[in-house]
Amino acid sequence: MSKALHEKAMKALSTVIEPELGRDIVTLDMVRDLTIENGVANFTIVLTTPACPLKGVFIRECERVLLPIDGIDHVNIKWDANVPRGLHGNLDMPLQNIIAVGSGKGGVGKSTVATNLAVSLAEQGARVGLMDADILGPNIPTMVGLGFAKPHVIGGEGENDQPKMVPFEAYGVKVMSMGFLADPNTPMIWRGPMLHGAIRQFFTDVAWGELDYMVVDLPPGTGDAALSLAQSVPLTGAVIVTQPQEVALEDARRAIGMFNKLNVPVLGVVENMAGEVYGQGGGEKLAETRNLPFLGRVPLQGVVREGGDAGKPVVISDPDSDAGKAFYALAQNVAARISVVAMANANVIPLNIIG
Ligand SMILES: Nc1ncnc2c1ncn2[C@@H]1O[C@H](COP(=O)(O)OP(=O)(O)OP(=O)(O)O)[C@@H](O)[C@H]1O
Ligand SMILES: [Mg+2]
Repeated sequence: MSKALHEKAMKALSTVIEPELGRDIVTLDMVRDLTIENGVANFTIVLTTPACPLKGVFIRECERVLLPIDGIDHVNIKWDANVPRGLHGNLDMPLQNIIAVGSGKGGVGKSTVATNLAVSLAEQGARVGLMDADILGPNIPTMVGLGFAKPHVIGGEGENDQPKMVPFEAYGVKVMSMGFLADPNTPMIWRGPMLHGAIRQFFTDVAWGELDYMVVDLPPGTGDAALSLAQSVPLTGAVIVTQPQEVALEDARRAIGMFNKLNVPVLGVVENMAGEVYGQGGGEKLAETRNLPFLGRVPLQGVVREGGDAGKPVVISDPDSDAGKAFYALAQNVAARISVVAMANANVIPLNIIG
């Protein structure tokens, strides 16, 4: 391979812009191991998320700039991903991103969104955890088809070896919930400090391993759980779930206010259950007026509830349904926002391109 040809190709690739991050792919160090043999340009593009919706764009753009070069008549791209850390603060655990899913209002679909988001990210190749921070009303075990079963405990042998619970796994996602630990039919009386302790322990006492994304499902309300979470670990940001109608939007506004107060960046707004019953467009409008990204609209569809009840999220049970496709796109949008936030934190891109 001639050095001149290699340089020419790299120069051409440095005109390909990553549209989310607004910088070229060479400056962003996304191009690796370029070789040109017998007219074939082989290289790897390292994405900031495996859930990247832009692969088609990169293929087209790289071909557009490389194929006119003398000595290149074929482009062969391999894909890899390295999810950057987007946490708003330091954390001594191998969790790259922690995302809270909240709403203010009850029953708008937080747990459903959290579950389908987590499973969708895992389906696309990311290492994902799903933490049920709804200590009093855990629904995640049912939604991913796991019952009331005590997790294994490992470690605890030596003095410095703290015992840890092994999370269960469903659809490639590591899951932890109070639903595994306490019989759901026996209500327990919890005091505030105990709830706080439980959320904290879900980080410190669980063997999560290395994760690209930890999705945290919050209980309804603008209160204790979000505060405990924000006090226990730094977060990448919060995803706000709302229904399209005004009363849900009011609560969503309060939730945005609460995350602002807690210094947790809001990654954007999801409108769930759009359709004839609740209308549509309210979530998008809310995002617009608050200058927040609109992350997606999920229609009200029977398959979503059936999937939740059956323990098979709709992105698995019916991925080609409108709701299934909407959740998939939502996951890609959330991953893209996280990449932008993370790259801005690392000063790789300027802050002002964040919406
Ligand atoms: N897009 C949708 N289409 C149809 N049904 C949905 C949709 N989203 C959620 N549901 C259903 O609505 C119900 C409430 O959803 P979910 O439990 O996810 O809400 P939540 O906000 O987590 O509630 P809570 O505030 O009690 O934690 C569930 O039965 C769920 O299956
Ligand atoms: Mg819930």
